Amino acid sequence: RNDIMAFELPPLPYEKTAFGDLISEETFNYHHGKHHNAYVSKTNDAIKGTDHEGKKLSEIIEVADGGLFNNAAQVWNHSFYWLCLSPEKKEISGELKDRLEKTFGSIDDFKSKFKDEATGHFASGWAWLVLDGDELKITSYHDADTPVAHGVKPLFTLDVWEHAYYLDYQNARPDYVSALLDNAVDWDFVALNMDGDGVSRADQG
Ligand code: FE2
Repeated sequence: RNDIMAFELPPLPYEKTAFGDLISEETFNYHHGKHHNAYVSKTNDAIKGTDHEGKKLSEIIEVADGGLFNNAAQVWNHSFYWLCLSPEKKEISGELKDRLEKTFGSIDDFKSKFKDEATGHFASGWAWLVLDGDELKITSYHDADTPVAHGVKPLFTLDVWEHAYYLDYQNARPDYVSALLDNAVDWDFVALNMDGDGVSRADQG
């Protein structure tokens, strides 16, 4: 068949200059234009002529291992990450605020725990807020690993691979995590994911 759509690099939902110094245009050029794009190309190369052609990205992530898992999971993770960010500062409100306070004590306690997880995660990976059943949890996964493979609902993520922050923050991962968490998260998107299916937000195919 030649009518099967290949996976595509999703366009950023904002201008690459929209975050000013928080996330530079150069970081977007590399992170979205080079890294994310390469994961898309490698996923398409790996599935060409296999039974995976025509499947959804999430369906591939659920069954693949090795290089295909890593590339497909990184396509999904990055697509979701871009949607978690907002160049306009937003506040945590409504049901999300209530549930974060109930689970973690206060919004400051939630942010502090998330910063600890994201900063303390050894080497490459992703820090997550997920719903595990009805329970809000902060966790992190190594390398390309993703909630899509673990049956928990993704609500919010920060990429803690060095390529996410090195150009703007050098090795100061805590500064990157704090700057984004306090100024650049789309909490409305995070709130939507509590009721919706977080996986489908960044799925393709
Ligand atoms: Fe990344």
